[in-house]
Order: sequence, then structure tokens, then C-alpha cells
Amino acid sequence: MSTTETSRNTNDAVIASEPNHEGYREYELGHFRFRRDEYFAYVTWPTGDHTLSIDDFLRAMQRDVAWDFFYGTVNFDAVVGTVNHYGTVDLFAGSFNEVYRKAERDYVENFESSVIRETFKAMLDDWTIDGFDPFASPAETDKPFGVKAGSNTEAVTRRRVAAQRMVGVPGDEQIRTDETHPINRMFADVPQDEPVVQAEPGYEDKVVAFNLFAYLSRSNVTWNPSVVSVCKESLYCPTTEEYILPIIHGNDRVEWFVQLSDEIKWVVEDRETGVLRSKVTMRAGDVAAMPGDIRHQGYSPKRSMLLVWENASGELPELIRTGRAPVYPVDF
Ligand SMILES: [Fe+2]
Repeated sequence: MSTTETSRNTNDAVIASEPNHEGYREYELGHFRFRRDEYFAYVTWPTGDHTLSIDDFLRAMQRDVAWDFFYGTVNFDAVVGTVNHYGTVDLFAGSFNEVYRKAERDYVENFESSVIRETFKAMLDDWTIDGFDPFASPAETDKPFGVKAGSNTEAVTRRRVAAQRMVGVPGDEQIRTDETHPINRMFADVPQDEPVVQAEPGYEDKVVAFNLFAYLSRSNVTWNPSVVSVCKESLYCPTTEEYILPIIHGNDRVEWFVQLSDEIKWVVEDRETGVLRSKVTMRAGDVAAMPGDIRHQGYSPKRSMLLVWENASGELPELIRTGRAPVYPVDF
């Protein structure tokens, strides 16, 4: 039997201790407690405790905060993570781990999104020291280890790019230049020419195009999908990837991947148990539909470009959960 406690706290206040011996504060969310020292993050709950490398923890926390808990499940690792219920969020330990469940060491609490968001944001800001950028590839940032030494608020509060219609249209310019976004070292060979648009008179601001490859070659973050175009519920979310996806994402809907350049290896597991289901190697031009009942983590040996295509409909998780929509997009 699982241990489940629901605490709907409507108070936005962050509960934190005075700085500890290493200079970092401790945080509480319901019966969860978070602490860091020079190398590790420690998570405790009424039936257990868990230790993560602070490096992995901060990279995962950064995505959970920046994506506002994303779609479905954000597993920091095989034990702790969050499930987005779009208004409330579950914070869990061992809930998607067969061994923890059998041993009855799993635990989950539900929070108003604002409570967990504000606590995570405060923790991320406090625990990120000067020079460490959790969004950057490991080769492009300093290390997160050691005693509290400054902060990097500008990096951890970086806003996710989200077009209202499409990058390039009036109001959605989001221009990237050499000054603001220099071309990443691994994309030095990507052509930077922009498409020539010849619109009929009167349609100059309605017919728009931009060079997506050039746009992505200037991305200064990894594993952070931006929304470059929106058509009703259809979101094009391309991103640049390098090293390892810092979370294991549990889908609550089908998710399309179009590998635009280079290569990513995906480890695909059962969402509920973590049992391996498949390994998928995607090379430039490959397209995959990741099912709605899996979780996956990607490995990108060289910075690569990936288009993530999402159906943002709020009805999908319930339709899939109740079997009225399939977990696969198509039957062959
Ligand atoms: Fe996913």
C-alpha cells in the first residue's frame, strides 16, 4: 500500500532555515525536507531519504522550474520528482519505482503549483553559486560544488522563449544576434542566411519566415525547448541538446521528436516502473513518436538540434488515462 498524504497549502511562503555550515539554507515542502552541502542534495520524507549529486539535482531543478513542471512527470532520477496536474503538483519519492513501492517506502504529497514553484525557485537560486549555470552544457560552465560562494540569479531566472504565433512575426521578433547570442562552437558550420520573402503588397507583415537552423545554432542553453510557433494546440518546441537530459521525462501524451541534426540516444522506460522498454538512436532526419505511457532520457554526445512537437490540449491526459485516446498516435 502506498503512503499518500495530501496537503493543499495555499500559503506562498517559502520555509527555509538559517544558512547551514556550508552557507546554504534548508527547505521544507509539507513533510519533505531538502538540504545541500558541498557535493550533495539530501531529500528526506517520512518513510525514507535520498541523496543526489548537487550537479544533477540543480540541472533537474532548473528544468522543472523553467518548464513550470512541464507535461506529466519530471523525474529528477529513479526516485524523486514531480507530476504536473496543471494547477497542483505532486512531489513524490519512489512512486515510480517498483522497489520503493513494494517496500512501502514511497511517498507523495500534493501542493498548489505556486507553493512548490516558489520554494523550488528559492532553493535553486540559493543553491546555485557564482559561475555555475544549470542550463549550460557541462563543458560550458563552472562547477556547482563547494561552500556557498555568490549566486547566479541571472542564469537561473532565464525565461523560456515562448512565441505567441511564430518567431519573426511582428511582436514575436526574438532576434538573435552576434552580440546577444553568438553561434555555439559546435554549430560554427551552420549557414546563417535568412530566407527571402516576397509578399504581395499589403501582406508584408503576414508572410514571415526565418532560418530555424541559424536560430538554434545561437541557443545558449541545453535541454530547454522554446516555443517557436503556435497553431491552436500545436506547439513546435525545438531545442539544442548536449550531454544528458537532466531529467527523466514521463509523458502524459504522445510527443513527437524530429532529429534535426547530429544524434541522440534515447533510453525509453515504462513510466510507472522504470523497466527498460527500448533504446532508440535518432540521427538527423529521423522522426519518432514517443508514446504517452513512457519515460525517457536522452544522451547527446555532440550538441544537436531536436524539434519537439507537442499537442498542448489540456484534455489529453484525462482522455489517455481513461482509455478514450491511445498512447500511440497511429496503428500500423
Ligand atoms: Fe517526453
